[in-house]
Amino acid sequence: MNPTESKKMDKEYLLAPGPTPVPPEVLLAMAGPIIHHRAPVYEQILSEVREGLKYLFQTKNEVLIFAASGTGAMEGTVTNTLCAGDKALVVEGGKFGERWTGICRAFGVNPRTVPVPWGRSVDPGEIAGVLEQDPEIKAVFTQATETSTGALFPIREIAAVVSRYPGTLMVVDGISHLGAQELPLDEWKLDVVVCGSQKALMLPPGLAFAALSDKAWGFVERSTLPKYYFNFQKELKNIAKNQSAYTPAISLILGLAQSLRMIRKEGLENIFARHARLARATRSAMKAIGLALYAPEAGADSMTAVLAPPGIDGQKIVKILREKHRLTVAGGQDQAKGKIFRLAHLGFVDTFDVIMGVAAVEMTLKELGYAFESGKGVKAAMEIFMEEK
Ligand SMILES: Cc1ncc(COP(=O)(O)O)c(C=O)c1O
Repeated sequence: MNPTESKKMDKEYLLAPGPTPVPPEVLLAMAGPIIHHRAPVYEQILSEVREGLKYLFQTKNEVLIFAASGTGAMEGTVTNTLCAGDKALVVEGGKFGERWTGICRAFGVNPRTVPVPWGRSVDPGEIAGVLEQDPEIKAVFTQATETSTGALFPIREIAAVVSRYPGTLMVVDGISHLGAQELPLDEWKLDVVVCGSQKALMLPPGLAFAALSDKAWGFVERSTLPKYYFNFQKELKNIAKNQSAYTPAISLILGLAQSLRMIRKEGLENIFARHARLARATRSAMKAIGLALYAPEAGADSMTAVLAPPGIDGQKIVKILREKHRLTVAGGQDQAKGKIFRLAHLGFVDTFDVIMGVAAVEMTLKELGYAFESGKGVKAAMEIFMEEK
């Protein structure tokens, strides 16, 4: 064959902030025959999963599991803890903050938003001020990491404010954060943490999780909003018996058992250190080739949002990465569309995934005519990795 006719291998790379790569061990666990969910073998697996989830969420309470994307757990949190007409406070610093507002409105809850400029973090003092003015607010809804901007929010500090109000819940969307950075539910006095399977849990999309404090379970008892599938009390009763009210996503649960084993084996502390290292290397690489970060003061460890160089469309960077180099990353949404690209280092990702991602970004930027010294980003990332003994 004429070498000029050779086609690239069909090998795909994924560095998006969800879905994220799935380890072979997890894929294998999901490829087995379907077992029956009312059989003892399933109950045994669910019992192991319950313990693994408590470890991950760092809570003594049960973690509920739903066959849904993460938004299902967000909706369930609103409908299971609040009543029509309740007031809520929503930290709105991107697309996912807007989602909390949308869900509240859909169910007759009155959201008051704390707007945060995209790419920035929120000041806990601002939340303290709003709660002081209006102690009738029943819940504070926020993200831990706002995926649309890559910004990290100071959850521990916000929770310290909210925990002073017995009538207010601290609700955290940890979907792109939990399992990558600290979010200990009990220790930080968080009331609800929701998550989805397709991020740090190293699974395909399809599972949603919600963990609640004792204070939040008190709210559930009093909540009068309509609910059916996402009925937290019903699921709590079922999971306590290693069961679920409805047919679970059995294959995903088998995969979850395996991914939780891997998480326990690596250990949360090591996992957080790995994500911090990958984030440092990515940020350093981008800066080394002259690019600016979208959330320079508050970058999360799960992903890095990078401003496209002036005159270069961020969507074009994403397109070339995907079509020419087979690397899928995320572009910007809404007001950030065309301005940024988002490189994730979340879940089943390590040193050479970052090196590969940085190299692909460099090659793409060269093709787009951006002037910089080739290899400078890769070198900066390598230096961070080589600092570690
Ligand atoms: C912070 C955050 N919240 C909510 C969601 C929505 O989750 P899903 O798409 O699984 O419903 C995502 C997904 O990207 C997210 O990153």
